[in-house]
Amino acid sequence: MKVAVLGAAGGIGQALSLLLKTQLPAGSELALYDVAPVVPGVAVDLSHIPTQVKVEGFGADALDKALIGADIVLIPAGVPRKPGMDRSDLFNINAGIVKTLVEGIADHCPEAMTAIITNPVNTTVAIAAETLKAKGKYNPAKLFGVTTLDVIRAEAFVAEAKGLNCEDIVVPVIGGHSGTTILPLLSQVEGAEFTQEELEKLTHRIQNAGTEVVEAKAGGGFCYFINGSCSSSFLLKPC
Ligand SMILES: NC(=O)c1ccc[n+]([C@@H]2O[C@H](COP(=O)([O-])OP(=O)(O)OC[C@H]3O[C@@H](n4cnc5c(N)ncnc54)[C@H](O)[C@@H]3O)[C@@H](O)[C@H]2O)c1
Repeated sequence: MKVAVLGAAGGIGQALSLLLKTQLPAGSELALYDVAPVVPGVAVDLSHIPTQVKVEGFGADALDKALIGADIVLIPAGVPRKPGMDRSDLFNINAGIVKTLVEGIADHCPEAMTAIITNPVNTTVAIAAETLKAKGKYNPAKLFGVTTLDVIRAEAFVAEAKGLNCEDIVVPVIGGHSGTTILPLLSQVEGAEFTQEELEKLTHRIQNAGTEVVEAKAGGGFCYFINGSCSSSFLLKPC
């Protein structure tokens, strides 16, 4: 299996690549692409971890080489939020980045599963879909937006509010990955009852958790916690 990470030198990209180097099955290939010149160094660094996953770094002019033969492409390339910004404020820059990268996918690995992490996910996924359609390569079963963060936040907050073990809690979250489009289905949580006040507070906190982080870091960092659960170690960076 070959996995390509586009934007591999960033905060999300580096942590994600580290996890992939340590968790992909033996014999896998990991292709790290970024426009930042540091990316070959990121690959060299990870190559020193003793797992049977081959890592290679690809700079700005080698998107095609990073993508050829890829089965899975993960895209965290783009700019993150600063305090006072909404995810939609990232649209102007990140839309173009995602479009260019997805064109590369259509040209070099059209059968790959593609997961978009770059915000605003609600729109970057749609841009990816339209880009693939324009190239005649769109398969809705192979295009994903990464919103697991909302699920695990919901589980952590419910556990905290109700004094429960987070490993036992499942909170389905549907919708999108921004503000009121994030819809935690608290009525579906087994083993927990909520007052109206708790429902309102928890829903508000889950929908605004990213902003809570960005503001708490006061411009000194971004939210790097892209995926995970209380029980596994798929936590990329605390936020
Ligand atoms: N979906 C989620 O749950 C989730 C969670 C956290 C962050 N994010 C989003 O992920 C994105 C990245 O966040 P970050 O904190 O890693 O940012 P970052 O600035 O640390 O890293 C972004 C990386 O993208 C690279 N890049 C920029 N343009 C590129 C291009 N055209 N091709 C390849 N690489 C390119 C940069 O060189 C940089 O290395 C942001 O849009 C952020 O909002 C999503």
